[in-house]
Amino acid sequence: MNKNIRVEDQSLLRRDAFDAVAEAYDRARPEYPTRLVEDLIAFADIGKGSRVLEIGPGTGQLSVPLAALGAALVAVEKGPNLAKVARRKLSQFEHAAVVVADFDRCEFLPESFDMVVAATAFHWLDRSTRLQRCAACLKPGGVVAIVQTRWGIACKEDRFFAASQRCYARWDPRHNPAFRQIKPEDVPHQHDELFNSECFGKIIHRRYVCAREYNASQYCDLLGTFSNVLTMEPQCRRGFIACISDLIESEFGGRIVRHDMHDMWLARSL
Ligand SMILES: C[S@@+](CC[C@H](N)C(=O)[O-])C[C@H]1O[C@@H](n2cnc3c(N)ncnc32)[C@H](O)[C@@H]1O
Repeated sequence: MNKNIRVEDQSLLRRDAFDAVAEAYDRARPEYPTRLVEDLIAFADIGKGSRVLEIGPGTGQLSVPLAALGAALVAVEKGPNLAKVARRKLSQFEHAAVVVADFDRCEFLPESFDMVVAATAFHWLDRSTRLQRCAACLKPGGVVAIVQTRWGIACKEDRFFAASQRCYARWDPRHNPAFRQIKPEDVPHQHDELFNSECFGKIIHRRYVCAREYNASQYCDLLGTFSNVLTMEPQCRRGFIACISDLIESEFGGRIVRHDMHDMWLARSL
């Protein structure tokens, strides 16, 4: 990435980078754990005919199970290519629609949804307005659901994390040698923004840690959907991916296990 680009513009480039690899994103990004989806549905009491707004559905990782319930789903996706894939996957559900739009600028009918959900997308929204906008769309008693994903957390000693740092150091000019994997216990359980909002009642938090196994090609496909990798210079990206692939094949017998963590916060509007 060009170091002369302003920090805010770099963030926008990262946010919009997924759209260029929509099909690869769809193949590589995992679905959410069944338990997370079940907890979300149970708490929000979502079923046939419920009105659900999803922000940043990507290619439909969470949208498909929600639409399969019979919920009337409106998914607002900024990337046209991502939206195209999501539409294809949702085409069997006549009550699901994908709209290409920027949630930060959308106008919705006030109090028109039973649930507003953002899965691994809330952090890309305008922080000065995002929660207020979610609250405005919800019927009284409607639920906001925020899912945050942390890839590659430190559950136990992770030999692969340590070894892979040399690929980052070699190929990623933004690499920070002091970077360490975060431990689950160091991730706050509280969502400060929700906690400080006056629009919502009691907040529920759930945490899901998943072990996922990859071969070299699957893991490189996943890395190729991360915004920090997508925004590397092409030559660096190719070198980095080749370095990781070689590492998995030569030092890890062709397979690695990574631990990811999904935090979900749910709150009812007052
Ligand atoms: C990391 S992806 C998550 C996609 C999917 N929900 C998932 O769980 O894999 C973030 C998504 O949010 C979308 N997005 C980011 N900012 C947005 C905005 N302001 N309005 C609508 N979509 C947005 C991106 O285009 C991208 O599809």
